[in-house]
Amino acid sequence: MMRRVLVVDDEENLRLVLRTFLKRQGYQVEVADNGETALEMVESFGPDFILTDVRMPRMGGLDLLATLRAKGNEATVVVMSAYGNIDLALEAMKAGAYDYVQKPFKNDEILLTLRKAEERECLRRENRALRQEVLRDSVFEQMLAKSDSMQQIFRTITKVAVFKTTALISGESGVGKELVARALHQRSDRKDGPFVAVNCGAIPENLLESELFGHKRGAFTDASSDRVGLFEQADGGVLFLDEIGELPLPLQVKLLRVLQEDTVRRIGDNRDIPIDVRITAATHRDLSAEVKAGRFREDLFYRVNVLQIRVPPLRERREDIPLLIDHFIDKNNARLGTSIRAINPDARRLLMEYSWPGNVRELENTIERGIVLAEADTLTEVDLPDRIHQARDPIRLQLSSGELSIKKTNRVIEEVLIRRALKQTKGNRTRAAKLLEISHRALLYKIKGYEIDL
Ligand SMILES: Nc1ncnc2c1ncn2[C@@H]1O[C@H](COP(=O)(O)OP(=O)(O)OP(=O)(O)O)[C@@H](O)[C@H]1O
Ligand SMILES: [Mg+2]
Repeated sequence: MMRRVLVVDDEENLRLVLRTFLKRQGYQVEVADNGETALEMVESFGPDFILTDVRMPRMGGLDLLATLRAKGNEATVVVMSAYGNIDLALEAMKAGAYDYVQKPFKNDEILLTLRKAEERECLRRENRALRQEVLRDSVFEQMLAKSDSMQQIFRTITKVAVFKTTALISGESGVGKELVARALHQRSDRKDGPFVAVNCGAIPENLLESELFGHKRGAFTDASSDRVGLFEQADGGVLFLDEIGELPLPLQVKLLRVLQEDTVRRIGDNRDIPIDVRITAATHRDLSAEVKAGRFREDLFYRVNVLQIRVPPLRERREDIPLLIDHFIDKNNARLGTSIRAINPDARRLLMEYSWPGNVRELENTIERGIVLAEADTLTEVDLPDRIHQARDPIRLQLSSGELSIKKTNRVIEEVLIRRALKQTKGNRTRAAKLLEISHRALLYKIKGYEIDL
């Protein structure tokens, strides 16, 4: 049973009353008259509950709450605030307070709030234990996924990580290619060696060459000193060539040479330096199509494509979405110091149905944005961006599909209007027919045709 309560208020009388009352109810009680003293007492007393005023000289309730959260303290905080400070109380709820009571209050109100909090705390523990159990099979290095396709990838990584084979990770933007590359490194016997990542598409061609291979002093105008390239830096570990499809053709030739000979030569140098590097590459392009188009060398393609891992887009593994939602809520709470506890069913449904062109990264950004916008401690559909709402609009979907048939498009619009009218009239067909300006008979006929359940 959790029984320790810390009361924080600058009003002496209130501290006295609460201390006496709560002690009589069987709680262990300590008091503090400001946030700073409270923080010290939290260390020594270890309260399960903190009842705190919002406005106090020397550290108010909100700062106290923020500091506690930053320290990872899990005490349940209840805010006491006078009428007129409701805004502050709500802000406190968003920052992680469990509840608030309005001053002046009756002792029983406080007791009831504490009992409620205790119950919730029990539930939370159970939930956490349950979630941990579900998660155990769904976590792989930094990745979370329970879909069969991702679980298959986890097994592949485990199997191939021990070999020095070059791996090519393909998949749309934001699916988690870099995480796969890192997992390959983590699961290999090179995990204590370096993991060096370079984005081939982000560095201009002339810089990329010396970045990768290094150069000798004086090799070109700006080369004022020797430079160790990324290949050498990755010695004994992994060089992750992100967006290898963007690698310019001349550098493709040089890369192939490194792969074949396990040596690099710095620009302007005539020595070959032996290296032991595992190459992992990633691309959002279809490399075999790039080969056909003459933009990617066929010999290099065969050399890097020894083992291909295709990470499927999020819309092809929607069962991973709930897991990722919860994960990103936790992650961003920790980062932003917020305490979003849940996401409402409507918002969850929208996230489940959206097509996620930006994949996991887009989902993560969407959750982060939602957390910032959320008014209370629950994410709701209002906190989601327009594009996610619009994507569900069947009329918009129809119009963006390129369909030209007036008949088909009219049907989509008609169905939307009928559903809307029925919702507005709570299923009353006579009134709905009036709103729609069609006959009652026609409406019944269409309801059947569109298979609308009432
Ligand atoms: N399965 C997953 N579990 C948890 N986080 C994930 C998962 N997949 C992706 N992420 C997160 O999503 C973001 C994008 O992942 P990552 O950078 O690996 O994608 P990418 O495929 O390399 O994207 P790009 O093609 O844009 O470089 C990162 O913040 C990553 O941590
Ligand atoms: Mg990436």
